[in-house]
Amino acid sequence: MADFFASCPSELSGILYKELETLGMEKLEKTNSGVYFQSSWEGCYKVNLHSRIASRVYKPVLEFIAYDKDQLYGEIQKHDFTKYIDPNQTISIDVKVKDCMMHDQRFVAMRIKDAIVDQFRDKTGTRPDVENKNADLRIHVKATKNNFWVALDTSGNSLFMRGYRKEVGEAPLKENLAAGLIALTEWDRKSPVVDPMCGSGTLLIEAAMMYMNMAPGTLRKKFGFQNWKNYRKEVWEKLVNEAMEAELPPPETPMFFGYDLDNQMIKKAKINAQEAGVEAFVKFRKETLSLLKPEVEKGILVTNPPYGARIGEEDWLKDVYRDLGYCFKHSFKGWDCWVLSGNKDLIMELKLKADRRIMVFNGPIECRFLKYSMY
Ligand SMILES: C[S@@+](CC[C@H](N)C(=O)[O-])C[C@H]1O[C@@H](n2cnc3c(N)ncnc32)[C@H](O)[C@@H]1O
Repeated sequence: MADFFASCPSELSGILYKELETLGMEKLEKTNSGVYFQSSWEGCYKVNLHSRIASRVYKPVLEFIAYDKDQLYGEIQKHDFTKYIDPNQTISIDVKVKDCMMHDQRFVAMRIKDAIVDQFRDKTGTRPDVENKNADLRIHVKATKNNFWVALDTSGNSLFMRGYRKEVGEAPLKENLAAGLIALTEWDRKSPVVDPMCGSGTLLIEAAMMYMNMAPGTLRKKFGFQNWKNYRKEVWEKLVNEAMEAELPPPETPMFFGYDLDNQMIKKAKINAQEAGVEAFVKFRKETLSLLKPEVEKGILVTNPPYGARIGEEDWLKDVYRDLGYCFKHSFKGWDCWVLSGNKDLIMELKLKADRRIMVFNGPIECRFLKYSMY
Protein backbone atom coordinates (compact mmCIF):
# COMPACT_ATOMS: atom_id res chain seq x y z
CA MET A 1 0.00 0.00 0.00
CA ALA A 2 1.29 3.47 -0.86
CA ASP A 3 2.49 5.56 2.05
CA PHE A 4 0.37 8.64 1.39
CA PHE A 5 -2.34 10.01 -0.89
CA ALA A 6 -2.69 13.72 -1.68
CA SER A 7 -6.19 14.62 -2.88
CA CYS A 8 -6.92 17.63 -5.08
CA PRO A 9 -9.71 19.28 -7.10
CA SER A 10 -10.75 17.11 -10.09
CA GLU A 11 -8.61 17.59 -13.18
CA LEU A 12 -5.68 19.06 -11.22
CA SER A 13 -3.93 15.78 -10.43
CA GLY A 14 -1.51 16.32 -13.36
CA ILE A 15 -0.11 19.51 -11.85
CA LEU A 16 -0.23 18.05 -8.34
CA TYR A 17 1.92 15.18 -9.66
CA LYS A 18 4.53 17.67 -10.93
CA GLU A 19 4.44 19.56 -7.64
CA LEU A 20 4.99 16.39 -5.58
CA GLU A 21 7.84 15.39 -7.87
CA THR A 22 9.49 18.78 -7.26
CA LEU A 23 9.02 18.27 -3.51
CA GLY A 24 11.02 15.04 -3.79
CA MET A 25 8.21 12.52 -3.26
CA GLU A 26 8.67 9.10 -4.85
CA LYS A 27 6.71 6.32 -6.58
CA LEU A 28 4.02 8.75 -7.68
CA GLU A 29 0.78 7.35 -9.02
CA LYS A 30 -1.88 9.65 -10.42
CA THR A 31 -5.65 9.08 -10.11
CA ASN A 32 -8.56 11.38 -11.05
CA SER A 33 -8.83 12.74 -7.55
CA GLY A 34 -5.20 12.93 -6.47
CA VAL A 35 -1.77 11.35 -6.35
CA TYR A 36 -0.33 8.48 -4.29
CA PHE A 37 3.25 8.90 -3.18
CA GLN A 38 5.88 7.21 -1.10
CA SER A 39 7.78 9.08 1.59
CA SER A 40 8.71 9.25 5.25
CA TRP A 41 6.56 11.16 7.76
CA GLU A 42 8.86 14.10 7.16
CA GLY A 43 7.80 14.01 3.51
CA CYS A 44 4.16 14.04 4.60
CA TYR A 45 4.80 17.16 6.73
CA LYS A 46 6.61 18.71 3.79
CA VAL A 47 3.68 18.18 1.41
CA ASN A 48 1.26 19.62 3.98
CA LEU A 49 3.52 22.65 4.33
CA HIS A 50 4.41 23.30 0.70
CA SER A 51 1.66 21.96 -1.55
CA ARG A 52 -0.38 24.69 -3.23
CA ILE A 53 -2.60 22.23 -5.08
CA ALA A 54 -3.41 19.43 -2.60
CA SER A 55 -6.70 19.54 -0.71
CA ARG A 56 -5.62 17.02 1.93
CA VAL A 57 -2.86 14.49 2.58
CA TYR A 58 -4.08 11.08 3.70
CA LYS A 59 -2.25 8.17 5.27
CA PRO A 60 -3.97 5.04 3.89
CA VAL A 61 -4.02 2.31 6.54
CA LEU A 62 -6.39 -0.42 5.33
CA GLU A 63 -7.85 -1.71 2.11
CA PHE A 64 -10.24 -4.67 2.18
CA ILE A 65 -13.46 -6.20 0.91
CA ALA A 66 -16.43 -6.47 3.28
CA TYR A 67 -20.00 -7.54 2.60
CA ASP A 68 -21.44 -7.49 6.12
CA LYS A 69 -21.10 -5.83 9.51
CA ASP A 70 -19.01 -8.59 11.11
CA GLN A 71 -16.51 -8.63 8.29
CA LEU A 72 -16.30 -4.84 8.45
CA TYR A 73 -15.72 -4.89 12.22
CA GLY A 74 -13.03 -7.58 11.91
CA GLU A 75 -11.16 -5.84 9.09
CA ILE A 76 -11.10 -2.49 10.92
CA GLN A 77 -9.69 -4.22 14.00
CA LYS A 78 -6.69 -5.36 11.95
CA HIS A 79 -5.15 -1.88 12.16
CA ASP A 80 -3.97 -0.52 15.49
CA PHE A 81 -5.57 2.93 15.79
CA THR A 82 -4.45 3.30 19.41
CA LYS A 83 -0.93 4.17 18.28
CA TYR A 84 -1.98 7.59 16.98
CA ILE A 85 -3.86 9.20 19.87
CA ASP A 86 -4.60 8.78 23.58
CA PRO A 87 -8.07 7.64 24.65
CA ASN A 88 -8.85 11.09 26.07
CA GLN A 89 -8.53 12.57 22.57
CA THR A 90 -11.28 12.60 19.94
CA ILE A 91 -12.04 10.85 16.66
CA SER A 92 -14.32 11.51 13.69
CA ILE A 93 -15.33 9.11 10.95
CA ASP A 94 -16.23 10.36 7.53
CA VAL A 95 -17.73 7.68 5.28
CA LYS A 96 -18.70 7.68 1.61
CA VAL A 97 -20.39 4.52 0.33
CA LYS A 98 -21.26 3.71 -3.27
CA ASP A 99 -22.75 0.50 -4.72
CA CYS A 100 -22.08 -1.58 -1.58
CA MET A 101 -24.07 -4.38 0.13
CA MET A 102 -23.95 -2.18 3.23
CA HIS A 103 -25.44 0.92 1.65
CA ASP A 104 -26.36 2.91 4.77
CA GLN A 105 -23.48 5.35 5.35
CA ARG A 106 -24.50 6.08 8.93
CA PHE A 107 -24.60 2.39 9.78
CA VAL A 108 -21.17 1.82 8.23
CA ALA A 109 -19.74 4.80 10.14
CA MET A 110 -21.25 3.51 13.40
CA ARG A 111 -19.80 0.03 12.89
CA ILE A 112 -16.32 1.43 12.14
CA LYS A 113 -16.57 3.68 15.18
CA ASP A 114 -17.49 0.66 17.36
CA ALA A 115 -14.52 -1.34 16.08
CA ILE A 116 -12.12 1.53 16.78
CA VAL A 117 -13.40 2.51 20.23
CA ASP A 118 -13.50 -1.17 21.28
CA GLN A 119 -9.79 -1.38 20.39
CA PHE A 120 -9.06 1.51 22.77
CA ARG A 121 -11.31 0.12 25.49
CA ASP A 122 -9.71 -3.33 25.32
CA LYS A 123 -6.22 -1.88 25.52
CA THR A 124 -6.65 1.02 27.94
CA GLY A 125 -10.02 0.61 29.64
CA THR A 126 -11.29 3.93 28.22
CA ARG A 127 -12.32 5.16 24.79
CA PRO A 128 -12.02 8.33 22.71
CA ASP A 129 -15.11 10.48 22.18
CA VAL A 130 -16.52 11.20 18.76
CA GLU A 131 -16.35 14.85 17.77
CA ASN A 132 -17.50 15.83 14.32
CA LYS A 133 -15.59 19.11 14.02
CA ASN A 134 -11.90 19.41 14.85
CA ALA A 135 -11.40 15.81 15.99
CA ASP A 136 -7.79 14.86 16.82
CA LEU A 137 -7.88 11.79 14.56
CA ARG A 138 -10.03 12.09 11.45
CA ILE A 139 -10.68 8.77 9.76
CA HIS A 140 -11.79 8.86 6.16
CA VAL A 141 -13.47 5.81 4.59
CA LYS A 142 -14.38 5.37 0.96
CA ALA A 143 -16.27 2.22 -0.02
CA THR A 144 -17.06 1.36 -3.62
CA LYS A 145 -18.54 -1.99 -4.67
CA ASN A 146 -17.71 -3.46 -1.22
CA ASN A 147 -14.04 -2.36 -1.48
CA PHE A 148 -13.13 -0.29 1.55
CA TRP A 149 -10.31 2.25 1.62
CA VAL A 150 -9.50 3.56 5.08
CA ALA A 151 -7.17 6.52 5.53
CA LEU A 152 -6.17 8.95 8.26
CA ASP A 153 -6.40 12.62 7.39
CA THR A 154 -2.99 14.10 8.19
CA SER A 155 -4.06 17.64 7.23
CA GLY A 156 -7.04 18.26 9.52
CA ASN A 157 -8.84 21.18 7.95
CA SER A 158 -8.52 21.18 4.18
CA LEU A 159 -5.28 22.69 2.91
CA PHE A 160 -7.09 25.28 0.83
CA MET A 161 -7.71 27.01 4.15
CA ARG A 162 -4.36 28.74 4.20
CA GLY A 163 -5.42 31.12 6.94
CA TYR A 164 -5.07 34.44 5.08
CA ARG A 165 -8.58 34.72 3.72
CA LYS A 166 -10.58 36.52 6.36
CA GLU A 167 -12.96 38.14 3.88
CA VAL A 168 -14.77 36.54 0.94
CA GLY A 169 -17.32 37.59 -1.66
CA GLU A 170 -20.25 35.57 -2.93
CA ALA A 171 -18.34 33.18 -5.20
CA PRO A 172 -14.70 32.95 -4.11
CA LEU A 173 -12.35 30.40 -5.61
CA LYS A 174 -10.77 27.95 -3.21
CA GLU A 175 -7.14 28.87 -2.68
CA ASN A 176 -5.77 25.56 -4.00
CA LEU A 177 -7.91 25.80 -7.14
CA ALA A 178 -6.69 29.39 -7.68
CA ALA A 179 -3.07 28.21 -7.28
CA GLY A 180 -3.78 25.32 -9.67
CA LEU A 181 -5.15 27.72 -12.29
CA ILE A 182 -2.05 29.91 -12.03
CA ALA A 183 0.12 26.79 -12.43
CA LEU A 184 -1.89 25.73 -15.50
CA THR A 185 -1.09 29.04 -17.23
CA GLU A 186 2.63 28.12 -16.99
CA TRP A 187 3.29 31.64 -15.73
CA ASP A 188 7.04 32.34 -15.59
CA ARG A 189 6.83 33.64 -11.99
CA LYS A 190 8.40 36.90 -13.17
CA SER A 191 5.83 38.73 -15.29
CA PRO A 192 3.08 40.91 -13.86
CA VAL A 193 -0.35 39.33 -13.34
CA VAL A 194 -3.68 41.14 -13.72
CA ASP A 195 -7.14 40.05 -12.59
CA PRO A 196 -9.77 42.53 -13.86
CA MET A 197 -12.57 40.90 -11.80
CA CYS A 198 -10.61 39.99 -8.72
CA GLY A 199 -13.34 39.59 -6.07
CA SER A 200 -11.57 38.81 -2.80
CA GLY A 201 -8.23 38.62 -4.63
CA THR A 202 -7.50 34.89 -4.39
CA LEU A 203 -5.82 34.43 -7.80
CA LEU A 204 -3.45 37.35 -7.27
CA ILE A 205 -2.61 36.52 -3.67
CA GLU A 206 -1.76 32.93 -4.67
CA ALA A 207 0.40 34.21 -7.56
CA ALA A 208 2.15 36.66 -5.22
CA MET A 209 2.88 33.85 -2.76
CA MET A 210 4.33 31.80 -5.61
CA TYR A 211 6.50 34.74 -6.67
CA MET A 212 7.95 34.93 -3.15
CA ASN A 213 8.26 31.15 -2.90
CA MET A 214 6.14 31.42 0.24
CA ALA A 215 5.05 27.98 1.50
CA PRO A 216 1.25 28.21 1.97
CA GLY A 217 1.37 26.13 5.16
CA THR A 218 3.49 28.72 6.98
CA LEU A 219 0.34 30.84 7.34
CA ARG A 220 -1.66 28.04 8.96
CA LYS A 221 -1.91 27.45 12.68
CA LYS A 222 -2.77 23.75 12.81
CA PHE A 223 -2.45 20.47 10.94
CA GLY A 224 -4.06 17.12 11.82
CA PHE A 225 -0.77 15.25 12.33
CA GLN A 226 0.24 17.70 15.08
CA ASN A 227 -2.33 16.06 17.40
CA TRP A 228 -0.84 12.60 17.04
CA LYS A 229 1.52 10.69 19.32
CA ASN A 230 4.08 10.18 16.53
CA TYR A 231 4.28 13.95 15.82
CA ARG A 232 7.88 15.13 15.75
CA LYS A 233 7.75 18.81 16.54
CA GLU A 234 11.45 19.37 15.89
CA VAL A 235 11.14 17.93 12.37
CA TRP A 236 8.18 20.19 11.62
CA GLU A 237 9.93 23.26 13.00
CA LYS A 238 13.02 22.49 10.92
CA LEU A 239 10.87 22.30 7.78
CA VAL A 240 9.10 25.58 8.61
CA ASN A 241 12.44 27.34 9.24
CA GLU A 242 13.86 26.02 5.96
CA ALA A 243 10.73 27.19 4.12
CA MET A 244 10.97 30.68 5.62
CA GLU A 245 14.68 30.90 4.74
CA ALA A 246 13.89 29.91 1.15
CA GLU A 247 11.44 32.83 0.73
CA LEU A 248 12.50 35.29 -1.95
CA PRO A 249 12.45 39.07 -1.52
CA PRO A 250 9.32 40.83 -2.77
CA PRO A 251 9.52 42.80 -6.02
CA GLU A 252 10.42 46.46 -5.64
CA THR A 253 7.40 47.70 -7.55
CA PRO A 254 3.85 46.28 -7.65
CA MET A 255 3.52 43.31 -9.97
CA PHE A 256 0.03 42.05 -9.25
CA PHE A 257 -2.99 44.17 -10.11
CA GLY A 258 -6.59 43.45 -9.17
CA TYR A 259 -9.69 45.39 -10.18
CA ASP A 260 -13.36 44.99 -9.39
CA LEU A 261 -16.39 47.24 -9.84
CA ASP A 262 -17.49 46.51 -6.28
CA ASN A 263 -15.68 48.64 -3.73
CA GLN A 264 -16.55 46.21 -0.93
CA MET A 265 -14.68 43.45 -2.77
CA ILE A 266 -11.63 45.70 -3.17
CA LYS A 267 -11.65 46.34 0.59
CA LYS A 268 -11.85 42.59 1.27
CA ALA A 269 -9.07 41.79 -1.20
CA LYS A 270 -6.80 44.36 0.48
CA ILE A 271 -7.42 42.82 3.92
CA ASN A 272 -6.67 39.34 2.57
CA ALA A 273 -3.43 40.49 0.90
CA GLN A 274 -2.39 42.05 4.18
CA GLU A 275 -3.11 38.81 6.06
CA ALA A 276 -0.98 36.92 3.53
CA GLY A 277 1.83 39.48 3.87
CA VAL A 278 1.87 40.43 0.18
CA GLU A 279 0.07 43.79 0.30
CA ALA A 280 3.21 45.77 -0.61
CA PHE A 281 3.27 44.51 -4.17
CA VAL A 282 -0.34 43.47 -4.87
CA LYS A 283 -2.45 46.47 -5.78
CA PHE A 284 -6.23 46.49 -5.76
CA ARG A 285 -8.35 49.28 -7.20
CA LYS A 286 -12.04 49.81 -7.91
CA GLU A 287 -12.49 49.88 -11.68
CA THR A 288 -15.00 48.62 -14.17
CA LEU A 289 -13.99 46.49 -17.15
CA SER A 290 -15.10 49.00 -19.74
CA LEU A 291 -12.66 51.64 -18.41
CA LEU A 292 -9.76 49.37 -17.54
CA LYS A 293 -6.26 50.08 -18.86
CA PRO A 294 -3.28 47.97 -17.69
CA GLU A 295 -0.71 49.75 -15.50
CA VAL A 296 2.16 47.69 -16.91
CA GLU A 297 3.13 46.98 -20.49
CA LYS A 298 3.06 43.20 -20.55
CA GLY A 299 2.10 40.23 -18.44
CA ILE A 300 -0.64 37.64 -18.10
CA LEU A 301 -4.26 38.16 -17.24
CA VAL A 302 -6.17 35.53 -15.27
CA THR A 303 -9.75 35.99 -14.24
CA ASN A 304 -12.86 34.28 -12.96
CA PRO A 305 -15.90 36.28 -14.09
CA PRO A 306 -19.30 35.48 -12.61
CA TYR A 307 -21.05 32.73 -14.57
CA GLY A 308 -24.57 32.68 -13.36
CA ALA A 309 -24.40 29.49 -11.33
CA ARG A 310 -23.97 31.40 -8.13
CA ILE A 311 -24.18 35.14 -8.74
CA GLY A 312 -25.75 37.29 -11.38
CA GLU A 313 -28.40 37.04 -14.04
CA GLU A 314 -27.62 35.72 -17.50
CA ASP A 315 -28.72 38.77 -19.52
CA TRP A 316 -26.69 41.18 -17.46
CA LEU A 317 -23.79 38.73 -17.59
CA LYS A 318 -23.85 38.67 -21.40
CA ASP A 319 -22.93 42.36 -21.33
CA VAL A 320 -20.19 41.65 -18.79
CA TYR A 321 -18.63 38.97 -21.05
CA ARG A 322 -18.89 41.26 -24.10
CA ASP A 323 -17.09 43.97 -22.11
CA LEU A 324 -14.45 41.45 -21.08
CA GLY A 325 -13.82 40.35 -24.70
CA TYR A 326 -13.68 44.00 -25.80
CA CYS A 327 -11.27 44.81 -22.96
CA PHE A 328 -8.92 41.94 -24.00
CA LYS A 329 -8.93 43.09 -27.63
CA HIS A 330 -8.41 46.78 -27.02
CA SER A 331 -6.44 47.07 -23.79
CA PHE A 332 -4.47 43.82 -23.52
CA LYS A 333 -2.81 43.43 -26.93
CA GLY A 334 0.25 41.15 -26.62
CA TRP A 335 -1.02 39.55 -23.40
CA ASP A 336 -2.11 35.98 -22.68
CA CYS A 337 -5.59 36.21 -21.15
CA TRP A 338 -7.02 33.25 -19.21
CA VAL A 339 -10.67 32.95 -18.22
CA LEU A 340 -12.34 30.41 -15.92
CA SER A 341 -16.03 30.06 -16.63
CA GLY A 342 -18.70 27.45 -16.07
CA ASN A 343 -21.11 28.84 -18.65
CA LYS A 344 -20.57 27.94 -22.33
CA ASP A 345 -23.17 30.42 -23.60
CA LEU A 346 -21.51 33.30 -21.79
CA ILE A 347 -18.07 32.26 -23.09
CA MET A 348 -19.46 32.70 -26.63
CA GLU A 349 -20.20 36.33 -25.76
CA LEU A 350 -16.46 37.04 -25.48
CA LYS A 351 -16.46 36.75 -29.31
CA LEU A 352 -12.91 35.40 -29.22
CA LYS A 353 -11.36 32.12 -30.25
CA ALA A 354 -9.54 30.26 -27.49
CA ASP A 355 -6.07 28.80 -28.14
CA ARG A 356 -6.40 26.34 -25.27
CA ARG A 357 -9.30 24.85 -23.34
CA ILE A 358 -8.77 22.95 -20.11
CA MET A 359 -11.58 21.27 -18.22
CA VAL A 360 -11.57 22.12 -14.51
CA PHE A 361 -14.12 21.64 -11.74
CA ASN A 362 -14.92 24.55 -9.43
CA GLY A 363 -16.53 22.48 -6.65
CA PRO A 364 -19.29 20.57 -8.45
CA ILE A 365 -19.41 22.99 -11.40
CA GLU A 366 -17.78 21.82 -14.61
CA CYS A 367 -15.83 24.77 -15.99
CA ARG A 368 -13.54 25.64 -18.86
CA PHE A 369 -10.24 27.38 -18.30
CA LEU A 370 -9.57 29.14 -21.60
CA LYS A 371 -6.50 30.82 -22.99
CA TYR A 372 -6.80 33.75 -25.42
CA SER A 373 -3.52 34.98 -26.90
CA MET A 374 -4.18 38.59 -27.83
CA TYR A 375 -2.12 39.70 -30.84
C1 LIG B 1 -16.77 35.20 -9.41
S1 LIG B 1 -16.28 36.69 -8.70
C2 LIG B 1 -14.53 36.56 -8.59
C3 LIG B 1 -14.12 35.78 -7.37
C4 LIG B 1 -12.65 35.80 -7.12
N1 LIG B 1 -11.92 35.00 -8.08
C5 LIG B 1 -12.36 35.35 -5.68
O1 LIG B 1 -11.72 34.31 -5.49
O2 LIG B 1 -12.84 36.00 -4.76
C6 LIG B 1 -16.49 37.83 -10.01
C7 LIG B 1 -16.23 39.29 -9.66
O3 LIG B 1 -16.43 40.09 -10.84
C8 LIG B 1 -16.86 41.37 -10.45
N2 LIG B 1 -17.46 42.06 -11.61
C9 LIG B 1 -18.63 41.80 -12.22
N3 LIG B 1 -18.82 42.64 -13.28
C10 LIG B 1 -17.72 43.43 -13.35
C11 LIG B 1 -17.31 44.49 -14.22
N4 LIG B 1 -18.07 44.88 -15.24
N5 LIG B 1 -16.11 45.10 -13.99
C12 LIG B 1 -15.33 44.69 -12.96
N6 LIG B 1 -15.68 43.71 -12.09
C13 LIG B 1 -16.84 43.07 -12.28
C14 LIG B 1 -17.83 41.08 -9.31
O4 LIG B 1 -17.97 42.23 -8.47
C15 LIG B 1 -17.17 39.86 -8.61
O5 LIG B 1 -16.42 40.28 -7.49
